[in-house]
Amino acid sequence: MRFDVFSLFPEVFSEYLNASILKRAQELKALEVHLHNIRDWAIDSHHTTDDTPYGGGGGMVMKPEPIFAALESVLGAPPSCPVILLTPQGRLLTQKIAFELAEHPHLALLCGRYESVDERICQHLATDAISIGDYVLSGGELPALVIIEAVTRLLPGVLGDPTAPQNDSHATGLLEYPHYTRPPEFRGWRIPDVLLSGNHAEIARWRRHESLRRTLQNRPDLLKNALLSQDDLAFLETLGYQPGEPITPSTQT
Ligand code: ADE
Repeated sequence: MRFDVFSLFPEVFSEYLNASILKRAQELKALEVHLHNIRDWAIDSHHTTDDTPYGGGGGMVMKPEPIFAALESVLGAPPSCPVILLTPQGRLLTQKIAFELAEHPHLALLCGRYESVDERICQHLATDAISIGDYVLSGGELPALVIIEAVTRLLPGVLGDPTAPQNDSHATGLLEYPHYTRPPEFRGWRIPDVLLSGNHAEIARWRRHESLRRTLQNRPDLLKNALLSQDDLAFLETLGYQPGEPITPSTQT
C-alpha cells in the first residue's frame, strides 16, 4: 500500500513513521509513505501557500495553485489514485472506513492548515474528505497519521496476530472487553477469578458481557447497530438498558 502525503510540515511525520508497527510495515514492504512539501510548488518569490478569504473575515485560506501543482506533478492530472482531504468538514473516520481504505493500493492524503482550503480543491481535486472527530486541530497532519496507522494495521501480514483487527474495539460493533496480564494480584487488585478458571466457555461469556457493559457505559450509540443475541439483550437489561431509549453515555465515577 502506498500513501502520498501532501503537507506544509512533512517533517512532523518521520518520527512516528519510523517506530513500531509503521516501521515494521515499511520493512515488510507492506507500506510505502512518500512525503511532499506543498511549499515546494509555490512559485512566487515568497513561496506563498495561503491568502486572505474573499468576502472578508478572519483566518487564512490555502491557495489552490500550489496544491493542484503538487498533486498533479506527483500523481498525474487527474491524480491516478483517490485524494483524501483531511478536514473537520469531512465524513467521520470509522473502522468500517479504515477497512474500505485498506482495499486501495494507493491513496493520497492532503493535509489542510490555517482556517481551510480553497473550495475548488474540495470540488475538483479531492475525491473524499475525512474528519477524525468532532473537534478542530490546527492541521491535517495528525489526522493523516491516524489514517495511515488505522489502515496499515489491516494490511495482510502487518500484525503478528492476523485475527487481531477482527476482534478490535469497533470491528465487532462493540467496545473490547478488559484485558489483564501477570501478576494476578497487583497492589491488592486481583484479576477476575473467571480468567484463572481455565473454563473457556465461561471466559468467552464473561468477555462478551464485559464488552456489552463497557459499550453501554461509554458508547451506548453503538448498541443500536450491533448484532445482539437474546442473551446479550437479557444481560443488557440487567444493567438497565432499554432498547430504543435515548443514547447518552453515563459519566464514569
Ligand atoms: N483538520 C483539523 N481538524 C481536523 C479533524 N478533526 N479531522 C481531520 N482533519 C482536521
